[in-house]
Amino acid sequence: MKEGELFFCAECGHESRKWLGRCPGCGGWNTFRNRPAPVKPSLGPAARGARPIPVTEAARACHDRTPTGLPGVDRVLGGGLVEGALVLLAGEPGIGKSTLFLQVAGALASPGRPVVYISGEESAQQVALRARRLGLASESLLLLPETSCEAVLTHLEPLEPRLVVVDSVQTMVADGVESVAGSPSQVRQVAARFQWLAKVRGIPVVLVGHVTKDGAIAGPKLLEHLVDVVLSLEGEPGHDLRVLRAVKNRFGTVAELALFSMTGSGLEHVRNPSAWLLEDRQSGAPGSAIAVALEGTVPLLVEVQALVVPSALGTPRRVAHGLDGSRLALLLAVLERRTGLSFGDRDIFVNVVGGLSLREPGLDLAVAAAVLSSMIDRPLPSDAVVFGEIGLLGEVRGVSRAAERIREAAALGFARALLPERDTGGTAELEASGLRRVEELLRVLSPPSG
Ligand code: TYD
Ligand code: MG
Repeated sequence: MKEGELFFCAECGHESRKWLGRCPGCGGWNTFRNRPAPVKPSLGPAARGARPIPVTEAARACHDRTPTGLPGVDRVLGGGLVEGALVLLAGEPGIGKSTLFLQVAGALASPGRPVVYISGEESAQQVALRARRLGLASESLLLLPETSCEAVLTHLEPLEPRLVVVDSVQTMVADGVESVAGSPSQVRQVAARFQWLAKVRGIPVVLVGHVTKDGAIAGPKLLEHLVDVVLSLEGEPGHDLRVLRAVKNRFGTVAELALFSMTGSGLEHVRNPSAWLLEDRQSGAPGSAIAVALEGTVPLLVEVQALVVPSALGTPRRVAHGLDGSRLALLLAVLERRTGLSFGDRDIFVNVVGGLSLREPGLDLAVAAAVLSSMIDRPLPSDAVVFGEIGLLGEVRGVSRAAERIREAAALGFARALLPERDTGGTAELEASGLRRVEELLRVLSPPSG
């Protein structure tokens, strides 16, 4: 073995100082090669003529942000696209990634500063048809149906693009990498090439990446550490609602999110999510509770519905949509213990209406209220919202940003709030009923009418 010689797996990039028949990284057979994969200089943000500078000075050289023209996207990015940023947009196939960034591309493209949309998945005609459907007819929106990184970089050389969109990273191939498109080593090398483009030429690059429900094989997970920003576009099948959030953001917070609605002409920013989510609500029905959940920094009013029915099965069903199933199980256990009601022979279905997925402790009290309401068939007051965390002992615990939640509820016309006693201070906007224990919910449920 020559000094410094290295072997690597062509499938997953695993390195070893000697040749191996089976890769310990991915389990592949005969995948080892004795020539390291060629890597373009993968420059970090610090590599451009770096010298030590005082931190005060560095802060002044702030990032230049370009607003994308889509307020929802800007909000999640923290104000716009940063020069030289490498952004990963992850989401399940069919969720609307291509649609969203074709809209961004169309909004940003201007004469002299084109946007290049690299399509490795669809033909230029297909993308053009979609662009027409979205009402985008800009001469400066350039489509490039190409899957070779090197060819793309050559095409980009004479251009000064304002943005480059790569759709998708899994379809691109880098020269000299033997494995198939979408394999871990390809994806890594492709990303390294576009990172070079972003950092050296200062062009923001968006890599679109598919994730699959069963945990992203050669995809976005692999790239999270490499890119500056990871955006995730989520939604439930069959629902129009899409949630865009930042999972990682080197230039801003990860607390922001934006809601979009998939319409016949692309994704539309939902400016008043609470009103949108409550549109189809029928007030006064047992099993319904309006929760005030905090998503990022935004208080959102959502309806939680529960259906508790006698079970025909030996093991009753527990189905949770839009909330964590094990959290539901825990809440049911606490409710059984504290109220004396028994759920052992009941099927229980709980749904967060609208297709949102929430993981927020403040939702607990609304879930408990909806379940109890369905169980005893009595509605909650129709002008009330509910929020609060429930502890294992049945205590109702305070939540963060209670005042903002109350303000949002009052703004949408709600007159009452059932909330943790700790959070009742200074609530002038509506009537606050402080609860200390979960069983106090039973007192609130109105007696049957008639
Ligand atoms: P797409 O952006 O192709 O998803 P992804 O790139 O994440 O795979 O979106 C595909 C879906 O969006 C498809 O089912 C059609 C729907 N759609 C609309 O409802 N309205 C539109 O204006 C567009 C362009 C797509
Ligand atoms: Mg797509």
